[in-house]
This record gives sequence, structure tokens and C-alpha cells, in this order.
Amino acid sequence: MQDKSLIYKRLYAWYESSRRVLPWRETEDPYYIWLSEVILQQTRVAQGMEYYLRFIARWPKVEDLAAAKEEEVLREWQGLGYYSRARNLHKAAQMIVESLKFKVERTFPQTFEEIRALPGIGDYTAGAIASFAYNLPYPAMDGNVYRVVARLMDIDEAFDTTAGKKLFHKRIEELLDRDNPRLFNSAIMEFGALYCTPVLGDACEACPLADICMGHAHGTAELLPVRKPRPKVRDRWFTYHIYLNDPYGKADRSTAGRLEMVNVFTLIRKRENPKDIWYHLYEFPCEESVSESGLSTEWSVLRQAKPVCELTHVLSHQRIHARFIIHKVQQMPEIPGTILIRWDDLDDFALSRLTLRALDTIQHKA
Ligand code: ADE
Repeated sequence: MQDKSLIYKRLYAWYESSRRVLPWRETEDPYYIWLSEVILQQTRVAQGMEYYLRFIARWPKVEDLAAAKEEEVLREWQGLGYYSRARNLHKAAQMIVESLKFKVERTFPQTFEEIRALPGIGDYTAGAIASFAYNLPYPAMDGNVYRVVARLMDIDEAFDTTAGKKLFHKRIEELLDRDNPRLFNSAIMEFGALYCTPVLGDACEACPLADICMGHAHGTAELLPVRKPRPKVRDRWFTYHIYLNDPYGKADRSTAGRLEMVNVFTLIRKRENPKDIWYHLYEFPCEESVSESGLSTEWSVLRQAKPVCELTHVLSHQRIHARFIIHKVQQMPEIPGTILIRWDDLDDFALSRLTLRALDTIQHKA
């Protein structure tokens, strides 16, 4: 390997001059760091920031989060996606608060092993908390760090296979600055996020690490890191039924051209399959069909209805083709698992981003 002290010197100089000031970097409180890391796992910093600030304002201590209802946490998480992160966050907060250690010492878990054992925390997040909060010598390999390491050492093994992960982990263990793990992890992560980005353009030539980077020397940097072929995306077809019970005949255009929904009721249902997307989120009653044309017959009588909104929603491994149909009814149908709510109270429920997108369209159109 290259001279490590030279890598640190260059990396830290770049970090000092170019780093962003981010609130979770200004604290060593493990609870705040944990929150930020979980929020930022699949989220851009600009979007994650709003959620982070709202979470710490609403639940300033881990015991506050533990005391919240899961529904409240999901509601606060709404819009971030990957809701298992929020469920695990809540579950882990409860586990921490209920542990004997917390009851005696009132502290967050303090070793890598204890942190790693919490739900929703993998090697990356455990390493990030251990190093950022306690300055413990563990690497925190996020996508940015994989990229920097792959380029710096010219590793063309796929980083997202079992063998690849093992190899990268070995390399980062060798590279880690054990005297300054907090600084090292922050700097290499930030360098990947801001400078050594997927598309490099001219940045590679001007890079402060160019003369010690193997990827630069071999002209391979921009091709790295390599990932294994992605699994095929699965298509699904959802038909959502929005029932509007409108006792006063108000579900109509107001003078402003928008839907007037005071005293209008609708049916929603909680998704209950833990193995499927959007577990425990609410949505309008939904029919799933196996293909674009084949609607199931459950609500066959409604098949001719014209959708008020059609959307395609792309998740990591699924593409949802959704349509929303409005039914103005005198009497609500009986659909298992649904609850009757005021339209105006929809906002109190944790809804998927797809449903929020549809509502946005419908409320301006309908
Ligand atoms: N992404 C994940 N963790 C981060 C952090 N601590 N700072 C900036 N971006 C991040």
C-alpha cells in the first residue's frame, strides 16, 4: 500500500478546507449521530437535514423516541422511504431504554458490538456511531468510501458481493487511521461525497491525491468501483379506490376550482404484510393485479371507472403502476381492514410517497 501518512496528510488538508458544516458533525452525542446516519442511509444530505432537525426537536433524547408511538415515528418519517429504517429506529430506541445498562447508567450503548446488535444497524452504521461518537477505531464504509478505496487502490472486484465486501473491508482496516478514526472516517466519506464523485470529469487531474492514487496512475479511476449486475426490476399494477362519502354534497369544485372536502369521509387501510413494501403505512383500499390488463374481480363492478390519476412509482426493485379511481357513494362499501376517516384527517396518517404524490395531483385536479 501507498504511504499511509501521506494519504492522511492530503486527505485531512482537503477536509479542513472543503468540508461542509453539518449539525451531526458538531456533536458527539451518539443518539444524534445514530439518527443522522439512519436518516442519511438512502437520503441526500439536503433532504435528510430537514428530517434530522425535526426528529431531534420532537424527540431530543433516546427515551423520548422510545416513548413515541410507532405511528408517530412513521408519520414523521413520511416521504423518506425505506420505512423499515423508521420502524427499526423506534424498536432500537425501546431496546436501549429497556436495557439494564440504560437503567443504571442512562447511557447509549458504548461498544461496537452493543451498537451493532441493535435492529437496523449494520457494520456501516455501527462503525459510524462508534467512530464519530466515541472515536473508536472502526471503519465506516458507505458507498462514497467504497468508491474512494476502489480508486485509491485500483480494486476492480465488485464491492457488493460477499467476497468483494470482505476484500474491501480488509483494505479499509489496513488504511484506517487508528489514531484519528473520527477524523479519518469523516474525511474519506466527505471526500467521496464531494470530490471523488461517480463522474469525475477534470477533477481527477486536479485531485490532491492524484500522485498517490493507483486508479489515477492506471487510468481506471472513473470506471471504479465495480458492482455486480443489478437484479431485474419487478412490475406491479395497483388500482386504488378512493371512496368519498359526501353527506353534504361538498366533494365538488369550490369557486377556486379546487376540491372542497369539508365533512367528506373516505376509507383507508393499513398495509399489514411485513414482507411487502410499505408495511404499516396507510393507503386507500388497493387491488393488485398480475398484469397490466388483468384486474382481479373483487371490485369488478368498478372496472369501467376512469382513473382520476395514473402514476408510475419506481422503488429500488419494483416499478409500481398505479391508478386511482374516485367513487362518490351514498354508503361506504364494506372492505375488510379499512377504517373510515375524515378526508381532512388524512394528514395524520403515515402514507406512502406514491399516495402522497397521487393526493397532490388529485387535490389540484379531481
Ligand atoms: N452520509 C452518511 N453519513 C453522513 C455524514 N455523517 N455526513 C454526511 N453525509 C453522510
